[in-house]
Amino acid sequence: FKGGPLAGKHALVTAGPTFEPIDPVRGITNRSSGRQGYAIAGALAKLGARVTLVSGPVALPTPIGVDRIDVETARDMLAACQAALPADVGVFVAAVADWRIDEVFGTKLKKDKGGPPALTFVENPDILATLSASGPRRPKLVIGFAAETNDVEAHARAKLARKGCDWIIANDVTEPGVMGGDENAVLLISKDRTERWTRAAKDSVARDLAQRIAQDLTASLS
Ligand code: C5P
Repeated sequence: FKGGPLAGKHALVTAGPTFEPIDPVRGITNRSSGRQGYAIAGALAKLGARVTLVSGPVALPTPIGVDRIDVETARDMLAACQAALPADVGVFVAAVADWRIDEVFGTKLKKDKGGPPALTFVENPDILATLSASGPRRPKLVIGFAAETNDVEAHARAKLARKGCDWIIANDVTEPGVMGGDENAVLLISKDRTERWTRAAKDSVARDLAQRIAQDLTASLS
């Protein structure tokens, strides 16, 4: 896909869930399919970008033209993202676990060892907030996602400020067919405006977002 509007640009995308181990055979994860993030990575590559996709465990083929790095934990995802910098744009779509187990058990937990284990949790790093922090390696454009169930715009706007990113793509996950489905109905929230995109297939949302990213990165050149 050489020669598109994103030729010469590097895009970093996270997608999928993370997996936080409990012991050598067990762990905590979530139901993120990775589909929206993979679609965005593929759409950016089609516009000519070099794309690094840092992915949690998902059952999806790697989009054409995309360099994929597989990780399991949130900490590994953050390290892989930092190692991939510099990037012109970062799109953080992954459903990162908020917490991990404080001390992972070195051997498999057994039922007959005096009752259920007590698990203690510690907070994971926030990849979006970390890479949004100002500094020489901050991507020019940092985009986060928000899944909300009510007051979508207000919550997403608060998230934009809290994380320090440039855009939030927000969706109402109570809309039928959005969670785990093929379609998405999103708002694009930036500091000074809100755009309400019509409901469309996740692939189509990905193409539109890639176009908007291309517009933004080429406009900021001039
Ligand atoms: O705070 P919340 O999980 O709702 O924020 C969602 C956004 O933040 C998504 O873009 C997600 O990829 C990102 N995130 C992250 N690292 C975390 C938690 C969320 O990058 N530990």
